[in-house]
Amino acid sequence: MCGIVGAIAQRPVVEILLEGLRRLEYRGYDSAGVAVLDANNTIQRTRALGRVAALEEKLQQQPARGMVGISHTRWATHGEPSERNAHPHLSSNHIAIVHNGIIENYEELREALISKGYHFESETDTEVVAHLIEETLKTESSLFDAVKAATKQLRGAYALGVISPDEPDTLIATRKGSPLIVGLGLGENFIGSDVQAMLPVTNRFIYLENGDFVKLSRHSVEIFDTEGKKLDRPIKESKACSLDSDLGEFRHYMMKEIHEQPQSVQNTLEGRLGRDTIKQCIEGENVLETLQQVKEVQIIACGTSYHAGLIARYWLESMTDISCSVEVASEYRYRRQPQRDGVLFVTISQSGETADTLAALEKAKSNKCLATLTICNVAESSLIRESDLSLMTVAGAEIGVASTKAFTTQLVCLQLLVGLLAQANGDSLGVVANIVTNLKKLPVLLESVLDKDAEIEILAEHFAEKNHALFLGRGDQYPVAMEGALKLKEISYIHAEAYPAGELKHGPLALVDNEMPIVAVAPNTTLIEKLKSNLEEVRSRGGELYLFADKKVGISQKDNIHVVEMEDVPETIAPIIYTIPLQLLSYYVAVLKGTDVDKPRNLAKSVTVE
Ligand code: AGP
Repeated sequence: MCGIVGAIAQRPVVEILLEGLRRLEYRGYDSAGVAVLDANNTIQRTRALGRVAALEEKLQQQPARGMVGISHTRWATHGEPSERNAHPHLSSNHIAIVHNGIIENYEELREALISKGYHFESETDTEVVAHLIEETLKTESSLFDAVKAATKQLRGAYALGVISPDEPDTLIATRKGSPLIVGLGLGENFIGSDVQAMLPVTNRFIYLENGDFVKLSRHSVEIFDTEGKKLDRPIKESKACSLDSDLGEFRHYMMKEIHEQPQSVQNTLEGRLGRDTIKQCIEGENVLETLQQVKEVQIIACGTSYHAGLIARYWLESMTDISCSVEVASEYRYRRQPQRDGVLFVTISQSGETADTLAALEKAKSNKCLATLTICNVAESSLIRESDLSLMTVAGAEIGVASTKAFTTQLVCLQLLVGLLAQANGDSLGVVANIVTNLKKLPVLLESVLDKDAEIEILAEHFAEKNHALFLGRGDQYPVAMEGALKLKEISYIHAEAYPAGELKHGPLALVDNEMPIVAVAPNTTLIEKLKSNLEEVRSRGGELYLFADKKVGISQKDNIHVVEMEDVPETIAPIIYTIPLQLLSYYVAVLKGTDVDKPRNLAKSVTVE
């Protein structure tokens, strides 16, 4: 999703900006651009469709040089991906602006600006902001005041970086809804969408809050609220390290990350398990007292993280007396919900910056829940900072857009949370000891599933020419099937849907023929006999089945049944283990189809707009 990098320094900033953009590439984008104020105090802008490498090439042919500048990677929302729509946007070579977010009232603002004689070069909502700042500058005394006045007219979400030849020693920034961080250097200062962009130049950061306005010069950073009151925001030293961008023996980050899962699960468990107890591993205040008061858990997340939440509901309700509801953030945030007592509000997110999940958290806080807890992979993210409690996944940086190791480590954390809730409430069923025993087996069991790699690669050949696929599971394997279908959709562009296997006969069975491959996950759980009957219903209607089945359940290879035999695994961790073959299957299908596995079309890693 859109990424911003800005710099004001005593040295040329173009290379700093380009390196920052390269470090934001993992977020997903379709074009990139940079604007600097040159020695003649003129805005020099360069933009390119496609990768940062294309922008670099243009800059090599026509170099730009300046000590203050802004840059951007764009993920199209308003207007197609093109050079014309790429940021920075200008207003009569007098204002240059980069923007992350969506301006909801841009159409009415655009009409008003056109009637005042402004000419638009792009279809973006961002260009509206550039002209609006230009317009307000007519009555305001400084660029800072003009940005403040202009943003008063905006509805929606934004993080903005603004420069102008009028004030060549100033970089103005502000945020509302979209993340923006200030990086503090020596005689130089920076802005960026995340710390990764600025790690080569500093490790000291100020995390801007909604409504903050910042005036950066080379030697100072001043932050003000909407009323113009000066704010004193804390400076944080980041422990984040640079993304490990070394692919090693792997062709794609997704495959590297699939294979890292035994280690990332091990890292997530490290120091958190006792002999038959779970150590207190949730960060925050009054954790035990809070867990003892929980009557209900409400989980909110998006995409893959939402699927992790769905699995956790099965776990929580089967292992404790605490009820659980799970919902996607984009729906929850706009839905009225009656207030209930004792609700632990849990958000799950790899990035910790997902706009819908953040908005849902804000809503939950205003609804006065018992406490908010985030399960997240990025320690300094917005969700972590906004939540009362946090439980970290230790997956390491995930670069592939399709989430893999973040998902399995989220499941590990959710199981720790279920165990901690049981433990805090006087676990009488031996739930905690069972969780601990099984989690300890997990890394080794994950290694053994990865050994199925070659077998699954062969299976993938059956899918490459297909247009649709169905994924089936029952109980806590149904969300595993949903995750499998999402993986296939996002990286191979094959339409895939997941169903609880018992639901087939209520409609989807009509789709079954030999052009519709049906994938099912079949561990040896209490529902296995039910699942087997559902699979028979498919087979007798000519469906082609691809099963990941426990070797003890007695499903054997036949004409239209392809079976990958799985080891017998404990029921509580089966969803984590059965996720792996589905990740591998999607990966190999995508490779056969020749898609851009790590950066699938239209998608972004960090979804910072609504
Ligand atoms: C998963 O493969 C996707 N890339 C996507 O569904 C993702 O899980 C979702 O956008 C939520 O992101 P988050 O975990 O960073 O909040």
